[in-house]
Amino acid sequence: MNTRLEVLPDYESMSRAAADIIHDAARRKPDLLLCAATGGSPTGTYQRLVELAGRSPSDFAALRVIKLDEWGGLPMEDSGSCESYLRRHLLDPMGIADDRYVGFESRPEDGEEECREIREWLERQGPIDVALVGLGLNGHVALNEPADSLEPFAHVAELAPSSFSHSMLQSSRYRPQYGLTLGLGELLQARRVILLVSGESKREVFAHWRKAKLSTRFPASLLHLHPRLTCLCDREAFSDPG
Ligand code: PGA
Repeated sequence: MNTRLEVLPDYESMSRAAADIIHDAARRKPDLLLCAATGGSPTGTYQRLVELAGRSPSDFAALRVIKLDEWGGLPMEDSGSCESYLRRHLLDPMGIADDRYVGFESRPEDGEEECREIREWLERQGPIDVALVGLGLNGHVALNEPADSLEPFAHVAELAPSSFSHSMLQSSRYRPQYGLTLGLGELLQARRVILLVSGESKREVFAHWRKAKLSTRFPASLLHLHPRLTCLCDREAFSDPG
């Protein structure tokens, strides 16, 4: 298995470890392209990155960010959108201007066209240098949902029923109609992938993920194909589900 698994004592140390990897990579490659997930898993990593950027702004002055996925149908400025999450936790506090950021429109006129633009942007400007992703309770990664077959690249996704209860959507009065997401192909082409797994609620899905059996019914399992995957988890997530 190529996967490097590190079990950290708690969420904070997991977040620091992830931010340190990103910081180190940005020092080596100033225009690093970071693919940024949203949700509970990466918030601590972004907090730590903001601290690091406060101390060494020049290390991040050329950092580029691409949004991993988005809830289709939510207004961009809605508190539940991935856009407003990223603006709040990463883009604004790090001072990342719009010319260093790209991401799906949450209410595109034509979702397919929106995805084609993101695919083409990545073909020109990619690959992703570091993809920071979380593990979905239902085994999804980004909004690549469990299914008989998967789309390789950026696409409009049918949301799994369980995704409507995602914690990000609890503050929103809107219900997404679909997902917009990078595909497993773009994630597997990233130079490096960091998977964050934290908390008791992830124990069961994480124990299953560690068996490293590939299935489109468990999209995050395909990350095991990546030649440079680092999985950072906390002890709570790592314990046996019992
Ligand atoms: P979380 O979401 O980081 O909020 O746990 C992960 C996911 O659903 O992909």
